[in-house]
Amino acid sequence: MKDKIEKLKEEILDNLVKAKEEGALRDLEIKYLGRKGELTKILRSLKDLSGNEKKEIGQLANEIKKEIEDKFAEMKKAFSGKEKKEQTDVTLPGEKIGRGHLNPVTIVQNELEDLFISMGFMVLDGPELESDFYNFTAVNIPPNHPARDMQDTFYIDKKNKDGEYDLVMRTHTSSVQVRAMQKYGAPLRCVVPGKCFRCEATDVRHEHTFYQIEGLMIDKNISLANMKAVLETVAKKLYGEETKLRMRPKFYPFVEPGANGEVTCFLCQGEGCLLCKNSGWLEIFGSGLVHPNVLRNGGIDPKIYSGFAFGFGLNRVTQLKYGIDDVRLFNSGDMRFLQQF
Ligand code: PHE
Repeated sequence: MKDKIEKLKEEILDNLVKAKEEGALRDLEIKYLGRKGELTKILRSLKDLSGNEKKEIGQLANEIKKEIEDKFAEMKKAFSGKEKKEQTDVTLPGEKIGRGHLNPVTIVQNELEDLFISMGFMVLDGPELESDFYNFTAVNIPPNHPARDMQDTFYIDKKNKDGEYDLVMRTHTSSVQVRAMQKYGAPLRCVVPGKCFRCEATDVRHEHTFYQIEGLMIDKNISLANMKAVLETVAKKLYGEETKLRMRPKFYPFVEPGANGEVTCFLCQGEGCLLCKNSGWLEIFGSGLVHPNVLRNGGIDPKIYSGFAFGFGLNRVTQLKYGIDDVRLFNSGDMRFLQQF
């Protein structure tokens, strides 16, 4: 009898350890401790034993029963705790996911794209790793021309089959001018926003990685007047109807004549400061009538077609719009700066 009880105890404990969920536990409880359970039956049969045996085995059986009941209770507790933890209250409001947002340069780029699209321009893209040809030669800056010095270029450390370095990180979006002419021919109306790179010593005005938006309009009888009209529209859209735009002659090899465009410095209101180099004006674009050589490189006959090109410095334009006094903030990744837009 004693052995029988001990064996049953082992069996019950063995099975208990194997139980994986509350249901299995309940089945075991019924099997062993229920009204017709195996342990219950044994306990009930104790009454038929003789005096001494009854006392000894009765005590043992009760101890074992208690031990097993405790074990059941312990396991039940463990299961219910686990279930609670895994439960999902589907009625709870969800956890909020922080929303990202656009860099201010992208905001202004999108705005300008919309404006140009409304004026019939298409938006094009071009490679950031560019050939020396499209970045320089095609836009009338031949090898060894001093104008190459104006743009401190990152050359890629890889020679072509003629032993020359002919890959550069594009220094301006003008690299897409001839690509666009070759692909679409004339008449042509496009803008090209994108990243540009120059080997600059960085300061409040200069960055090694910055954004431009290039524009190109080619058709019959395009003149400086058309160019001025478009550029004034852009300046007013960006900074309001009252904006004063100053355009003065400036040399760029790919235009003839060439002009830059400046608006009043937002930081000093024209008084003169570090940002505007004490001039009171901030340059926001370069522009001009497309040089005949560039048209020819793009397969367009300069005797039939003329056009204008311009390039806005998108970082500068954005600085002006939001009053940002240091161009280096745009690429800094500083959340305190970025979260303001
Ligand atoms: N590519 C010139 C620059 O980066 C800007 C420009 C574009 C000037 C088109 C004239 C015409 O400075």
